[in-house]
Amino acid sequence: MNISEILLLGPVMPVIVIDDADLAVPLGEALLSGGINAIEVTLRTDAALNSIERLAKELPEICVGAGTILTEINAHSATNAGARFAVSPGTTHLIINACKAHNLPLLPGASTVSEMLTLHEAGFTAIKFFPAAAAGGAQFIKSLASPLPHLQFCPTGGITYNTASSWLALANVPCVGGSWLAPAHDINQQNFSMITERAKQASTLKRP
Ligand code: 3PG
Repeated sequence: MNISEILLLGPVMPVIVIDDADLAVPLGEALLSGGINAIEVTLRTDAALNSIERLAKELPEICVGAGTILTEINAHSATNAGARFAVSPGTTHLIINACKAHNLPLLPGASTVSEMLTLHEAGFTAIKFFPAAAAGGAQFIKSLASPLPHLQFCPTGGITYNTASSWLALANVPCVGGSWLAPAHDINQQNFSMITERAKQASTLKRP
């Protein structure tokens, strides 16, 4: 699947920070049973790569991506772990080239119009808008629909269940990202039924 197809798997992509790889599959099952089909596991913890590996092997029904890709090594390790896509908070040539070299679809991060234009020149049509709330909010992305009609955005950063709808109402936002469904403390405490409930709520948010 390419990034545009992945962004259509559901209106919300959970952003996961996981500390214990033993909890990766139970977490994936909890999200899947709540209707979530794609997740971003951030490479911010020692358990992240092992978690991606277990999810890719043991729960292939869920499309697992690696987030917080900052370096070539991150792209290489994510590919080896079985990530099906990569997400970066901002984007450099090194990140783009490393993902290309591994045939790893990249959702590249950007927060300014010039960065977005540079990504479009590099062939990208789907972009992570990060940090979404702090960098301008839904009004910012709404303002881009007319001058940048070829671009789609996955806003992430500071989005909650209560604010997700205002983003999803925009024609250029197929999906939002957020950690609210499965925050690290709920994963650590194995509050999986609560995570499933939030996943159900999130996965039934409506797009226009
Ligand atoms: C992140 O970088 O952690 C993601 O953008 C998620 O942000 P959030 O925790 O504000 O949802």
